[in-house]
Amino acid sequence: MAKILVTGGLGFIGSHTVVELINSGYEPIIVDDLSNSDPKIMDQLAKIIGYKPPFYKLDLCDEQGTKELAKKEPDIAGIIHFAAFKAVGESVQQPIKYYRNNFYSLLNILNAYDGKPVNFVFSSSCTVYGQPDVLPVTESAPVKTAESPYGNTKQIAEEMLKDMQTAGSSYKVISLRYFNPVGAHSSALIGELPIGVPQNLVPFITQTAIGKREKITVFGDDYSTLDGSCIRDYIHVVDLAKAHVAALKLMEAETFKGYDVFNIGTGTGSSVLEVIRAFEQSTGQKLNYQIGPRRGGDIEQVWGDVNKSKNILKWQTELDLDTMMQSAWEWEKYIAQNPL
Ligand SMILES: NC(=O)c1ccc[n+]([C@@H]2O[C@H](COP(=O)([O-])OP(=O)(O)OC[C@H]3O[C@@H](n4cnc5c(N)ncnc54)[C@H](O)[C@@H]3O)[C@@H](O)[C@H]2O)c1
Repeated sequence: MAKILVTGGLGFIGSHTVVELINSGYEPIIVDDLSNSDPKIMDQLAKIIGYKPPFYKLDLCDEQGTKELAKKEPDIAGIIHFAAFKAVGESVQQPIKYYRNNFYSLLNILNAYDGKPVNFVFSSSCTVYGQPDVLPVTESAPVKTAESPYGNTKQIAEEMLKDMQTAGSSYKVISLRYFNPVGAHSSALIGELPIGVPQNLVPFITQTAIGKREKITVFGDDYSTLDGSCIRDYIHVVDLAKAHVAALKLMEAETFKGYDVFNIGTGTGSSVLEVIRAFEQSTGQKLNYQIGPRRGGDIEQVWGDVNKSKNILKWQTELDLDTMMQSAWEWEKYIAQNPL
């Protein structure tokens, strides 16, 4: 079984990817500093997969520690690099915190395995497109000036990885540009665990429905969209997790050379109001929501062209918006009854 190092493997997307790696016959090794995850997620994972994968508690900004990790785990076939900070708003307030963590962790892990034939999957984001001129946005669309230090870390990281390939690196690399991951595993044993007030729509919806938050505010209903609210391409986290397996498989092929980038979304957009309605209809929960002013930094609408992923990555989404809402709701109820 090929060993895959999963950095940030106890986080939201990482934990779901660990499950899909095992389902596909890989042997995940988790590295996480627990800066944005709970160690009990390991127990939750064990309930789903039947065992606890090897785990290293390590801050990847620690250069020496990361080198030692590479000595302890020398024979890995791949790395999936999730470890990063991801709160857009916080990155505007504390840019250095974001540049430091997102770059040092990436550079240290790349350095630690430099010279080895390792397949590397990088967590990028549709934030690299800003507000695209043409929708759906394709991978060849021009990258716009980043709207936040967080977005800038993703843009620069992609450039770095591409430059590394041009220079003839031993790595093969795929950057996956995620759209908006939501939902939870069908077991409801793992899901998103926002710390503090959620910055994203779906955790805010589920926390409002369970009574943790009084109401949800829709930031603007005067955008140039069908119902005036912002549009995003929401993707079920389990579909997203499977895209990482597809990326590893593609890089395992002799024919794959160097570097590539793929949009990872459903290919359709849903407005904030549509998501609220989908939640209400699919769960039977009534949401207390109000329309508020626009929120600074929000782009109007974005959804991805996913033809390249379908044709080359041989991957596409299977789970619809209702399933995303139901699974997110099941997870919210689970965590309310079984706090970690
Ligand atoms: N969730 C989204 O909406 C979204 C969208 C696009 C891209 N991404 C990217 O996907 C990746 C995973 O996102 P997520 O939603 O699972 O986030 P998350 O915060 O749930 O998971 C990230 C994990 O990495 C760990 N980590 C952070 N810095 C670390 C370090 N220096 N050393 C070791 N571990 C470290 C955290 O403890 C956490 O467990 C991130 O790179 C993020 O930028 C996320």
